[in-house]
Amino acid sequence: MGIERTLSIIKPDAVGKNVIGEIVSRFEANGLQVIGAKMLRLSQDQAQAFYAVHKERPFFNDLVQFMISGPVMVLALEGEDAVLRNRELMGATNPKDAAPGTIRADFAESIDANAVHGSDSLENAAIELKFFFNNDLLPRNVSN
Ligand code: CMP
Repeated sequence: MGIERTLSIIKPDAVGKNVIGEIVSRFEANGLQVIGAKMLRLSQDQAQAFYAVHKERPFFNDLVQFMISGPVMVLALEGEDAVLRNRELMGATNPKDAAPGTIRADFAESIDANAVHGSDSLENAAIELKFFFNNDLLPRNVSN
């Protein structure tokens, strides 16, 4: 535990609904600080590579098509227990199962258009942060 970093993606559905700020506010109000941010449109190759772990799953093609359907906002978040905290704030993958007050319960329409992605472990967070931010993130300031 302790101070961690994790990756969040605000997906095309949420960007299209104009709720980037509302979602970022939830992170900020709950101890997660934005330490990196990029708005971009994923290429098909990027989306397939990012979600390669799911490539055998029946939903893979729909997932990739959805993720390239519009711009996304990728965020590097830092804070105490950031991986778990982000997942708690997001809620369950399927918004029908997401607890009230979570990002997916409030902003997502379906399991495909589910507003946000978040790294599921510290190990995957490091891989996913490197995917989008390479070595661009500033090192932690140990004095704060
Ligand atoms: P995400 O956290 O971005 O990780 C993979 C995505 O695949 C997931 O959110 C969903 O949007 C999408 N998906 C579609 N169908 C499923 C499914 N049956 N199980 C898990 N993820 C799914």
